[in-house]
Amino acid sequence: MSALTELDHVGIAVHDLEAAVSWYAEMFGATVAHRERIESDGVDEALIKVADSYIQLLAPYTDSSPLAKFLERRGEGIHHVGYRVEDCDAALEDVKAKGARVVDEHPRTGSRGTTVAFLHPKSAFGTLIELVQE
Ligand code: CO
Repeated sequence: MSALTELDHVGIAVHDLEAAVSWYAEMFGATVAHRERIESDGVDEALIKVADSYIQLLAPYTDSSPLAKFLERRGEGIHHVGYRVEDCDAALEDVKAKGARVVDEHPRTGSRGTTVAFLHPKSAFGTLIELVQE
């Protein structure tokens, strides 16, 4: 059985959060289900619900945010993929034991009160992966 139970969200880096929210509204009639400032990452998010998953629009609110550096280097676009797991701690320990490089040695609090941990893109075929426990 896979440790990944659902696609939780796709994180998209943008310069202007309001412009991105307006675009999704205009193009698809999509509305924001949740907004949050995630201080640990220096970002503002707007979540747009798509079935049981989300599009997570992300914009940095400070230049010291890692996302600001990402935007500088790579420009706007897909930043990470969030997979839902039953137990973030167990899933993280498992991939570490199997040799995956991780960004977070231990799970931490994400948006919506979730528990999250990031795997490094270097050992994941170029994709920053977030494990999300609801
Ligand atoms: Co995320």
